[in-house]
Amino acid sequence: MKILITGGAGYLGSAIVPRLINKNYNVTVIDNLYFKQFTLHDMFKYENFEFIFEDVRNFKIVNDIAKQFDVVIPLAGLVGAPLCDLHPIDAVKINQTAVEELCNTLSKETKMIIPVTNSGYGISKPDEICTEDTKLNPISIYGKTKVAAEKVTMERGNAVSFRLATVFGVTSRMRTDLLVNNFVLEAVKNKYLKIFEGHFMRNYIHVQDVARVMLYAIENFDKLKNNSYNFGLEDANLSKIQLANFIKKYVPDLVIEESKHGRDPDQRNYTVSNKKIIATGFKFKYSLDLGVRELIKAYKMLPEKNFSNL
Ligand SMILES: NC(=O)c1ccc[n+]([C@@H]2O[C@H](COP(=O)([O-])OP(=O)(O)OC[C@H]3O[C@@H](n4cnc5c(N)ncnc54)[C@H](O)[C@@H]3O)[C@@H](O)[C@H]2O)c1
Repeated sequence: MKILITGGAGYLGSAIVPRLINKNYNVTVIDNLYFKQFTLHDMFKYENFEFIFEDVRNFKIVNDIAKQFDVVIPLAGLVGAPLCDLHPIDAVKINQTAVEELCNTLSKETKMIIPVTNSGYGISKPDEICTEDTKLNPISIYGKTKVAAEKVTMERGNAVSFRLATVFGVTSRMRTDLLVNNFVLEAVKNKYLKIFEGHFMRNYIHVQDVARVMLYAIENFDKLKNNSYNFGLEDANLSKIQLANFIKKYVPDLVIEESKHGRDPDQRNYTVSNKKIIATGFKFKYSLDLGVRELIKAYKMLPEKNFSNL
């Protein structure tokens, strides 16, 4: 089976690609190396790995390449609300139009698996638990482009989408702007966390479970297809303050302070149900506890500040 991953040299791709290569799939990555990253260097020795240095905004070139594949996984994007706010036109072209172009070009036989963000739920009503049927209410440009990309992909059909919780954990294209990764970094380096909107509820997922569910979707495509799935840990719906206190278990001298100033550009405040993907038989493997300990270990080595998307 031939698999194309756009944006495969990013944070998620760096976990997904090795997992698929090790399962002997033929994997091709298209990426413009936006961060000048060199993250897939361990892959070049494999016969079943190919890399194409290209920009997904070159629609015709990318679509012609994509036609040769059985499965297409569009990861290329300007990821996160702050980066999209800085480059709104590029954000629409890369996150949304490039996916629309793919959907218009690919034959119906081609399978598509797309990760989007559960920030599409925006602020939920008090006590509401967001299921896949909950109305989407994206607030930021980032959220809006991802919701639009999911819509066009699911309308095309022969597709699966995963509405990812906030991802955490270490990959070779590290991101320290993600909430858990960032809180642990601040805790380890500065022993101090200043938190705004501390009561806002979020859901979390380990990056290796994201890689596992991509493989799971490839191998169970007919069972999952034409559905969207929330994808986060059922036991990790925590407010930001609860998350900070969770981290404090491992960094006892951490000082946590609540601030009245600051605003989440996505206004993410929701509790998410992940029962639909669990009902298909998928089993999560990596806990929040493991991820926090993993990050604490990693930050002894990683220099700070070099790994933010902004
Ligand atoms: N990390 C998360 O928490 C999370 C959550 C939900 C959804 N997602 C989605 O998963 C995908 C990957 O996210 P990530 O965390 O790996 O982000 P990332 O920023 O690490 O990776 C994005 C990748 O896209 C590439 N890219 C950017 N512009 C490009 C262009 N014009 N042409 C070709 N390649 C381009 C970058 O070089 C990079 O390798 C995104 O679509 C994102 O919306 C991520």
